[in-house]
Amino acid sequence: MKDLSVTNVEMVYDVSGGTDVHALSNVSFDLAGGRLLSLLGPSGCGKTTLLNILAGFLAPTGGTVTLGGDIITGPDKNRGMVFQQGALFEWLTVEQNITFGPRMNHDDKAGFSARANELLEIVGLGGFGDKRIYELSGGMQQRVALARCLANDPDVILMDEPLGALDALTREKMQSLILELWKETGKTIILVTHSVEEALYLGDRLFVMAPRPGRIEEDYSLPFAEQGLTMDARELKRSPEFRQKSEEILNIIWEMEEEIMGRTEGAL
Ligand SMILES: Nc1ncnc2c1ncn2[C@@H]1O[C@H](COP(=O)(O)OP(=O)(O)O)[C@@H](O)[C@H]1O
Ligand SMILES: [Mg+2]
Repeated sequence: MKDLSVTNVEMVYDVSGGTDVHALSNVSFDLAGGRLLSLLGPSGCGKTTLLNILAGFLAPTGGTVTLGGDIITGPDKNRGMVFQQGALFEWLTVEQNITFGPRMNHDDKAGFSARANELLEIVGLGGFGDKRIYELSGGMQQRVALARCLANDPDVILMDEPLGALDALTREKMQSLILELWKETGKTIILVTHSVEEALYLGDRLFVMAPRPGRIEEDYSLPFAEQGLTMDARELKRSPEFRQKSEEILNIIWEMEEEIMGRTEGAL
């Protein structure tokens, strides 16, 4: 299991003709392999920027990121990304989507189909391999996106608001699926969400991020993801401990947003 180490990461976007945007300032943390980290914070606090840096899609303007001691210099199949929606190939079948990565990498061709079926079973879509993406509901499409990510057998799974476009009920089911996958695969997962409840329920570690410049404001270690593996989700979310943490974090975010509003009004 590979540990992730982020040291003094800075990201300044150079906006031609405008003011530079300081999207991340002095972001440092260590994340042990196999943990599930939630990133929560108001829009514009740099969550997507941080994920893109971890994926290797973006090079930070300062600092370093290492995985298992190796510096991240670009995308690699050991770090997989699941997007909110729309990142599947609509004109391909479910199975073709899932085996896309391994086919590109020219891995064991004979094993593709069997592996795809296995992954479809894992994400609860057994028998759907021949369906086209446009034939599936939003929730099913996100299951395919998860399976496609798992097909590359990454060490780290990065998810940018993967459940953001789903209805409430589907979203709850998908949260449970993510917990099960986490338990069964032992992979490191980093998940961006706008929902305090989701961040608390899924994160065995949780960062609350703040904007301007984007930074980590609070770093929690939480018991709920572990408890969620054996306990009913609704019951867990109703527990006094869960509600108290939820209030605490909502207060932090409200204060942050008021501060942002205040600053904006002052500038007008
Ligand atoms: N390519 C870019 N060029 C300039 N500014 C950017 C770019 N991408 C993001 N930003 C800015 O950086 C900040 C952080 O953005 P982002 O990482 O998308 O935040 P989040 O995902 O938390 O909403 C925002 O102010 C955003 O406008
Ligand atoms: Mg974002």
